[in-house]
Amino acid sequence: MDKICVLDFGAQYAQLIARRVRELSVYSEIVPCTEPVEKLLAAGYKGIILSGGPSSVYDDGAPLPDKRLFEAGIPVLGICYGMQAMGFLLGGEVVPAERREYGPADLLLEGGGGLLDGMRPSVAGRVRVWMSHGDTVMKPPRGFVRLGSTDNCPVAAMADADRRLYGVQFHPEVVHTAQGKTVLRNFLTVCDAKGDWSMATFIDTEVAAIRKTVGRDRVLCALSGGVDSSVVAVLLHKAIGEQLTCLFVDNGVLRHGEVESVVATFRDAFEVNLIHADASKRFLARLHGVTDPETKRKRIGNEFIAVFEEEARKLGEIPWLAQGTLYPDVIESVSFKGPSATIKTHHNVGGLPPDMKFKLIEPLRELFKDEVREVGRLLGLPPEIIWRQPFPGPGLAIRVLGEVSEERLAVVREADAIVQDEVRRAGLEREVWQAFAVLLPVRTVGVMGDFRTYAEVIALRAVTSQDAMTADWARLPYELLARISSRIINEVKGVNRVVYDISSKPPSTIEWE
Ligand code: XMP
Repeated sequence: MDKICVLDFGAQYAQLIARRVRELSVYSEIVPCTEPVEKLLAAGYKGIILSGGPSSVYDDGAPLPDKRLFEAGIPVLGICYGMQAMGFLLGGEVVPAERREYGPADLLLEGGGGLLDGMRPSVAGRVRVWMSHGDTVMKPPRGFVRLGSTDNCPVAAMADADRRLYGVQFHPEVVHTAQGKTVLRNFLTVCDAKGDWSMATFIDTEVAAIRKTVGRDRVLCALSGGVDSSVVAVLLHKAIGEQLTCLFVDNGVLRHGEVESVVATFRDAFEVNLIHADASKRFLARLHGVTDPETKRKRIGNEFIAVFEEEARKLGEIPWLAQGTLYPDVIESVSFKGPSATIKTHHNVGGLPPDMKFKLIEPLRELFKDEVREVGRLLGLPPEIIWRQPFPGPGLAIRVLGEVSEERLAVVREADAIVQDEVRRAGLEREVWQAFAVLLPVRTVGVMGDFRTYAEVIALRAVTSQDAMTADWARLPYELLARISSRIINEVKGVNRVVYDISSKPPSTIEWE
């Protein structure tokens, strides 16, 4: 398989670059800029993209690529800081900015140079691109030609076609650069990279790899019903069938219909060996009298480990544990965060007792979320699983504010089902990141018919987000809000008021607890 390296200089957009390259059917991976040049050159990359980054080439200890990278005959594309570093190292003129340029800019094309070929001018003979930079290349290095400029940027793109070295000051990977894909596609053509990365071929290779890795061993997979663990389960099932056992723990704080849907999908439709451990009573007992959110989280986490351990021991000797680790988690553990690089290690299975020593199998560790969804679709998972919203491990327990009881869980579960239903009917389930109901620990006065009521309040939370790190409250249509509100008040016994949460994250969080 042909592959492209994205050398990460601490860019906000490194993942986006890798995703865009993969969308063009070429496999690409992110490598921290601290990787020794010998290893990079020996890895067989068809091309190398130098990412942007927060530094200036004039900073003390600025991360700079090794010059040998430009002499190896491998095509290199520098984006933003990557272009400045290339310009600086190869003898061009780079000046520190007085202030950062951020936002749209209009690129005046001076030539395609193999890199900008096929870009079509639209705005007054110019191409709209997205800028976000500090330093500026004033003069390209010897051997390079200038391909375009903007009002603030005399060299917005440059090329040395003979050496196959290229630079763009703008960001071709972001959606605001509408023709950015043309630039990346041109670079892949220069790299002579075959477009042989697809989820269908991924499934074939991964199935073979899983068979080779586990041999005749058994594998245990903790199934939560979320998209990642579901895709892991069906992929493993395709690879090793009966050798796979999935363990699904019902902790009593799942959403309406979730338990039934997991059982129907995996046991009935896919015929996976599924252990459905109904531990809801145990979890609820552990939550009795608890109101503090972190205590709820801890108790649920610990109880999960206890149940998981008990059930796993019943199954006899199973050497492998399958996990739905995705590529962003892997990158997170190696990513470059500037000179004071903090390297995080990724511990997803933290917490299992030390004598339970599983070997880990992580078949999705090369994939981005959208690729995981595509794998799920190709393997026949139903859309409601593929598009399931993120759902917290502590589940509805942190959406019943205050003490959790079976009755209060029933209220929030019923209200939540109405939210899910209405958001889906409005066709907005893929636009909102999460939408859910929260049961507040207060009562308010209302009037129903001729009677005064004193009943519960549901808060409706709906957010848009890319990654849950930041989020904004979703501007749901008033008609939809009205429908949700009147259905909850009419259909959910004990609720007489619905409020809409209009806080963004930060400073609020997505969940209320
Ligand atoms: P917050 O509330 O911190 O949530 O803005 C960010 C994202 O994380 C989810 N979340 C959790 N997921 N265990 C989880 O597995 C937890 O304890 C937990 N708390 C929050 C939340 O649903 C959102 O997607």
